[in-house]
Amino acid sequence: MESRRPFIAGNWKMYKTLSEAVKTAEEMAELLRDIKDRDIMIAPPFTALAAVGEALRNSPVSLGAQNLYWESEGAYTGEISAAMLVSAGCRYVIIGHSERRQYFGETDEDVRRKIRAAVRENLRPVLCVGETESERDAKNTFSVLDKQVKNGLKDFVSDELKHLVLAYEPVWAIGTGKTASTEQVQEVHSRLRSLLGTLFGESFAAGLRILYGGSVKPENIGELMQMPDVDGALVGGASLKAAGFSKIVSY
Ligand code: 13P
Repeated sequence: MESRRPFIAGNWKMYKTLSEAVKTAEEMAELLRDIKDRDIMIAPPFTALAAVGEALRNSPVSLGAQNLYWESEGAYTGEISAAMLVSAGCRYVIIGHSERRQYFGETDEDVRRKIRAAVRENLRPVLCVGETESERDAKNTFSVLDKQVKNGLKDFVSDELKHLVLAYEPVWAIGTGKTASTEQVQEVHSRLRSLLGTLFGESFAAGLRILYGGSVKPENIGELMQMPDVDGALVGGASLKAAGFSKIVSY
């Protein structure tokens, strides 16, 4: 069982050229070099992975990717395999981000295959789930999340998922400046933890890290981390600058 060390992750999305990415990564490596009591990850765009990995060498910050394709190799123009990510230095991969679901038509079945591919290569999956505003308004939050989790993790056994990290990212809170309230976040995280307990056992659920994502900033990380079922954050916009991200990491 993995311990629930706080985990702060930055998702750079489609921002930063190679030189911009390396510069920010170098600043982060410097600012965060003495942090020992939490896990930290940044996920730059594919083009910067290897170079950012170099910049983070000997720092407490791990490298993650934002996506992958499930086949191990082949004629799949434009796609990137799990083994390629590992060879670029990645330890983590974000899977099922709502932007991939929304803009690129990613389904729960795709998500499941991607998690399978990550597990096969010992990449740690960060599975993202979240409801839209209209789903929340219609009181469908839990049924939507249940379906995303159950279908994304279908046919796995707990042993295969020992490095899984779950990220709850309500779509209405991403990039909007609207953070979910700490009560809303705690309510969902606790429901997710019980669901994972039903699926994979209590001890699995007790060790699972559940991150919150959606307009996390230095000003709100502290209160979010006080919630008993919040084990970290997946940060978008505020992870693009080294100083701000370091403040979040050292909440
Ligand atoms: P923001 O922090 O910019 O709202 O993005 C959250 C997110 O989507 C992280 O994956």
